[in-house]
Amino acid sequence: MEQYKEPCIIDLPRIYDPRGNLTFVENGQSLIPFAIERVYWTYDVPAGEGRGGHSHHEAQELIVATSGSFRVNLFDGKEWRHYTLNLPYKGLYVPPGYWRTLDNFSSGSVCMVLTSTAYSEDDYVREFDEFLKLAGGR
Ligand code: TYD
Repeated sequence: MEQYKEPCIIDLPRIYDPRGNLTFVENGQSLIPFAIERVYWTYDVPAGEGRGGHSHHEAQELIVATSGSFRVNLFDGKEWRHYTLNLPYKGLYVPPGYWRTLDNFSSGSVCMVLTSTAYSEDDYVREFDEFLKLAGGR
């Protein structure tokens, strides 16, 4: 589980089939270091728009480009990491405490997020200055 303190790309299972491929995620599978409490997805993102712009105190997330592509930018308070997601069988694991922005959405893309917590605004850090203070204390 050591690697899961850092963001990383997780390869999800793929069931190849001439009728079309299938990928799944299941609690207890041990691939993902958290139990899934909530799933949400963004879609119809207009060209040039960005999303995110916050960090979480507690929520762990797995971000999957189930369709199309987009870029996820993660900041730990010191350096940015950039990930282009465009494969529905790869997920980006994001631990809590990372400022994230998402951009470069392709037309028709769908960003699915599996997360470890129920929705709570209290779990968000939405002010970058506050994030920097928290990150400085790590
Ligand atoms: P937000 O997390 O800021 O979106 P993103 O990071 O994808 O740009 O959420 C946008 C709005 O949607 C905000 O008002 C909170 C609401 N929301 C929910 O009600 N439930 C949810 O599970 C999520 C993720 C957001």
